[in-house]
Formats: sequence, structure tokens, C-alpha cells
Amino acid sequence: MAHSSDTDVAVYTPAARRYHWWVAALVFIQVPIGLYMVYRGKEMVGVNDLGEPVKGVWDGLTNTLYSSHKTLGLIILFLVILRLAYRLTQGAPRSDPSVPPALTGIGHLVHWLLYLLLIAVPIGGYVASSFGNYLDVFGVRLPTVTLENKEMSEQVYELHELGAKILIVLVLLHIGGALYHKLIRKDRVVERMLPKKNPVA
Ligand code: HEM
Ligand code: HEM
Repeated sequence: MAHSSDTDVAVYTPAARRYHWWVAALVFIQVPIGLYMVYRGKEMVGVNDLGEPVKGVWDGLTNTLYSSHKTLGLIILFLVILRLAYRLTQGAPRSDPSVPPALTGIGHLVHWLLYLLLIAVPIGGYVASSFGNYLDVFGVRLPTVTLENKEMSEQVYELHELGAKILIVLVLLHIGGALYHKLIRKDRVVERMLPKKNPVA
């Protein structure tokens, strides 16, 4: 039984909370890296050897950002798989009974969609990179999982981008939900996931 003595709110286990905040922190870093590296490599105006303006700057920093994005994306995938396995075997604390069932239902739907995208988006990024033969990460060649096909690569990158954008919208909804619980309903749902609170086992 994981619930605290003073407030009678069922909280997530320390392990579940650790997974949650590691994944959240890494996603907060991963998305801006992805957006900025694509801007830098494809949109930002630089100059070529002749001093003429060109779109896209492919220098050491752009390369490092791409390598970092791929590495961090794989770390996120790995953590989410562990977290999902933990979630499916250990379950979650019972829902706050003061919250109307419809709201709890929407919350759960958003959580499962988050899991779905946290798995599908990095796999999509990897598969697209495999099709494009772009799996050099900091000079290390990661294994390809497909034949080379640049057209497929472009298409799967489109899906990766779309998935990432849906993920961003879900994260905003999720954070909006947390704020709604904390500031408007003034219930204890956010406390369930805060890092500090120790459950009384
Ligand atoms: C949860 C994990 C991930 C998230 C949230 C994420 C998010 C993003 C975002 C927001 C972009 C920018 C999209 C755009 O503006 O076009 C992007 C692009 C990209 N991502 Fe990821 N990504 C993840 C994992 C991965 C992984 C694992 C790989 C490869 C191993 C990868 C490879 C790429 C590449 C190569 C691009 C650039 C595509 C292009 O040049 O159009 N991503 N990603
Ligand atoms: C400021 C940022 C965030 C806050 C305040 C927050 C807060 C919370 C809270 C309070 C819960 C438990 C809800 C409940 O008990 O019903 C939760 C669950 C969850 N959060 Fe977050 N979260 C944040 C960011 C994120 C991010 C960035 C992700 C992933 C991209 C994420 C993914 C999840 C998932 C998948 C669950 C479901 C946990 C489970 O039952 O397995 N969260 N979050």
C-alpha cells in the first residue's frame, strides 16, 4: 500500500517518480535540440566559401547537435521501455477519489498516449535515420535496421516530426492538467508525482 499518513493521498512509488522526472527532464532537452538542429542545418543563413549567403549551416555544432539528439533519443527510448514495463507490472496508485471519473479518464488517456508516442517517436527517428544511412553518432556507426532508401527516409522523418509535434501538444495538455489540479481544483493529484514525498509503505 503506497499512501501517505498525513494526507491520505495515494502516491507513486519512488522508482515510478524517478522514471517520470528523468524522462520529463530529458524530453524537455530533446525537443529544443531537435527543433534547433533542424533550423540550423536547413534554415539558418550562413556563408559559403565564396562569401555568398546560403541556407543551412553544417558545421561542427550542427553535427554535434544531431549526434546528441540521436543519443539522447535512444536513452529516452530505453528509459521509457523500462518505465512502461514497471508500470505494466507494478500498476499505479489508485486514482484520487475526489476527481470526477470523466477527468480521471481524460488524464489516463493522455498518459497512455504519452507512452505510445514516447516509444513511437524515437523508433521513427531511428528507422528514418537507418533508411537515410545517417547513423553515424559522434563517429560511431549504429546498426542499420533497413536497406538504404532516401525517399522512405524523408517520409519517415515527416512522421517523426508529426509525432514529435503531437507529443509536444500532449505534454502541454499534461502540464495544463497538473496546473489545473494544483491551482484551480486545489486537490492533491500533483503531490502523487512530486519527487520529495515519501510514501509510507
Ligand atoms: C523521444 C525522443 C525524440 C523526440 C521527442 C524527438 C523530437 C524531434 C524533433 C522535435 C525534431 C525536429 C523536427 C523538425 O523540426 O523537423 C526531430 C528531428 C529529428 N530527429 Fe528526433 N526525436 C526523438 C528521438 C530521435 C531518435 C532516437 C533519432 C535517431 C536515432 C532522431 C533523429 C532525428 C533526426 C535525424 C531529425 C532531423 C530530421 C530532419 O532533418 O528533417 N530523433 N526530432
Ligand atoms: C512540469 C512537468 C510535469 C508535471 C508537473 C507532471 C505531473 C504529473 C503527475 C502529477 C502525474 C500523476 C497523475 C496522476 O496521478 O493521475 C503524472 C503522470 C505521468 N506523466 Fe507527467 N508531469 C510533467 C511532465 C511530463 C512529461 C514531459 C512527460 C513525458 C513526456 C510526462 C509523462 C507522464 C506519464 C506517462 C504519466 C503517467 C504515469 C503512470 O501512471 O504510469 N510527464 N505527471
